[in-house]
Amino acid sequence: MRTQVVIVGGGPSGLLLSQLLYTKGIDSVVLERQTRAYVLSRIRAGVLERGMVDLMTRAGVDARMRTEGIPHTGTLIAQGDTLFRVDFAKHTGQSVMLYGQTEVTRDLYAARDAAGAKILHEVDAVEIHDADRDAPFVTFQHGGSDQRIDCDFIAGCDGFHGVSRRSIPAEVRQEYEKVYPFGWLGVLSETPPVNDELIYANSSRGFALCSMRNPQLSRYYIQCSMADKPEDWTDTAFWHELRRRIPAEQADTLVTGPSVEKSIAPLRSFVTEPMQWGRLFLCGDAAHIVPPTGAKGLNTAASDVHYLFDGLCQHYLDGASEGLNHYSERALARVWKAERFSWWFSSLMHRYPDQSAFDLRIQQAELAFLRDSDAAQKALAENYVGLPY
Ligand code: APR
Ligand code: PHB
Repeated sequence: MRTQVVIVGGGPSGLLLSQLLYTKGIDSVVLERQTRAYVLSRIRAGVLERGMVDLMTRAGVDARMRTEGIPHTGTLIAQGDTLFRVDFAKHTGQSVMLYGQTEVTRDLYAARDAAGAKILHEVDAVEIHDADRDAPFVTFQHGGSDQRIDCDFIAGCDGFHGVSRRSIPAEVRQEYEKVYPFGWLGVLSETPPVNDELIYANSSRGFALCSMRNPQLSRYYIQCSMADKPEDWTDTAFWHELRRRIPAEQADTLVTGPSVEKSIAPLRSFVTEPMQWGRLFLCGDAAHIVPPTGAKGLNTAASDVHYLFDGLCQHYLDGASEGLNHYSERALARVWKAERFSWWFSSLMHRYPDQSAFDLRIQQAELAFLRDSDAAQKALAENYVGLPY
């Protein structure tokens, strides 16, 4: 088999890239290790920056997002019982779109199906060959047989645990990592959201976040120990703890119900450099991870897809190599800014086990500064709605 671009990984990065390439007549094959049902069962953040909304539009998959997505023009930040709002529209003229990543993935699959796309699920033993030469190829097992696809380029969209990053020789790679000493316990519940905007809460008992998917579906998180297991937390214990971490007024109006999903996610900052090796290009979680505070995971994957799509279009449509040659530096420049923001917002909102009395006072002062300063709010708003590509 031969194609122009082999895309390893059928998560949001891989599907979005293949759909964008399709709009320009560039051929790709997506290789996904899991079943489609598995990919669609993963629950991730649900805040889309304008850049991601624009990419969905360019990919022709924005119809449902336009009707079911909820634009948010600001967010609430709680410091104990004090609540203040950061107005994105006032500070940036922009908003974000609340639309779950699961829905994004569903829309992308629907569009890819409609176009008769080649997406192979349940592939095994994917190996990338000769990425540093002129004629790369990918081998894998599918449906019980060994297969090979020859291609011009390979997009490594296979997430943090994928094979693509590890296909770049270790001596070429520089990795940067920070692991946070806590996790997020998330609950999805078929209840109306406690508030029509998100609430990020810094409380003496640890961080909490009130988010949503739609007017009948809420998503809540509380900071927890990484030693905890989801089954340690009954629904009653979760709601009780959440109530104690958000301002009294919201705690009193919180509508609770049975959880439809409950999971614990670790918090990590990670970047690998470079994001390209010869004809192999890394996109999304394959190259970087952010802690979820600020919801930059999917959005940062989207900016990578934008730069790679741009480079591939230049190559195939204009015969120019500039975009592909500079992919890594262009993508990384923005990745590091998203890393900085996610790290900063995480540091501001969580309780750390080793936090000294001094550290706590500094955190409180920084929150008070954010509450009182237009300049500080503008900086948060600018990052939250997404830095330009
Ligand atoms: N071969 C083929 N597919 C693989 C392999 C492999 N060896 N390893 C992983 N995959 C698949 C996974 O099953 C997954 O479906 O690659 C896909 C990677 O998807 P994500 O982990 O969702 O990563 P990405 O598409 O970059 O999305 C970035 O979305 O998933 C969130 O937290 C993530 O918000 C971030 C954003
Ligand atoms: C979510 O809705 O899951 C969500 C929202 C905002 C975040 C993180 C997660 O910062």
